[in-house]
Amino acid sequence: MFKLTAKALACALSLSIAGMAQAAESTPTAPIVIKFAHVVADHTPKGQGAVMFKKLAEERLGDRVKVEVYPNSSLFGDGKEMEALLLGDVQLIAPSLAKFEHYTKQIQVFDLPFLFKDMAAVDRFQQSPEGQALLKSMESKNITGLAYWHNGLKQLSANKALREPKDARGLKFRVQASAVLEEQFKAVKANPRKMSFAEVYQGLQTGVVNGAENPYSNIYSQKMHEVQKYITESNHGVLDYMLITNTTFWNGLPADVRSELDKIIVEVTAEVNKQADALNEGDKQRIIDGKTTEIITLTAEQRTAWRDAMKPVWGKFEAEIGADLIKAADAANQ
Ligand code: LMR
Repeated sequence: MFKLTAKALACALSLSIAGMAQAAESTPTAPIVIKFAHVVADHTPKGQGAVMFKKLAEERLGDRVKVEVYPNSSLFGDGKEMEALLLGDVQLIAPSLAKFEHYTKQIQVFDLPFLFKDMAAVDRFQQSPEGQALLKSMESKNITGLAYWHNGLKQLSANKALREPKDARGLKFRVQASAVLEEQFKAVKANPRKMSFAEVYQGLQTGVVNGAENPYSNIYSQKMHEVQKYITESNHGVLDYMLITNTTFWNGLPADVRSELDKIIVEVTAEVNKQADALNEGDKQRIIDGKTTEIITLTAEQRTAWRDAMKPVWGKFEAEIGADLIKAADAANQ
């Protein structure tokens, strides 16, 4: 009796497994949806990176993944995107390095004014063991850094000509959500005001703030120059990104999909970082051609005065960031 039942059971089981396999063959698996949200326009280094990632992922992984790109804060803006990543409402974001202070204080190193002499130095630090370690520094918070993407060096913009630090006195400057950047403007006796990227144009237009800081690509693509009479080419700090994902999501991807996406990210990163300078230079020229804004070139003495005024900020954050990390970043200038 028992034997018979066991045989019948085995038979039923094998039939149902065969049925399941057949069903799996005939029902296509739904693609893995990867939402990539960001706050800038498509025609910027980050915007181009997101579009490139979508193209390559869909080309190479066919219908196994579907990448949805949401530019211009259309899905989540500053202040919400990180939370959304942790909740699984978005799978890829690339916040500027100024926007991580709630997750790790070390990344604040990138905001220190006049730390990097040029983008090559920024790149050397990002690729150094210390820079690479920062990509992994938030894994306990379920955030994995996948790559650094360049935008470029920031320029000061205002409705007043800024040639010397004293010219900034009393002006209201929009800053990203960064304590270092707040201190940077306080160091020249200006008033920093935290504001999300999506609000900057209107803030400048209505006079809620008088000035801001951004690379040319962000200024041009948001039309900020149309409401700023002057841009001082100060190159006083860097605005770069960390492409991040939700650690649980990324580790849960099928291994072959994840390894293909990792390869694509290496390719896209190289391309973004190669094109960023040219994009900023092109937008600088477009601003000049638009004739709304005068671009001020600083003399060596004027630039030194800004550097001397802002550099004390380093000391204020040395304990939080770590003296060794600041030293490693500074060493990338050699
Ligand atoms: C800003 O808020 O000014 C930038 O971080 C925007 C961006 O993502 O480039």
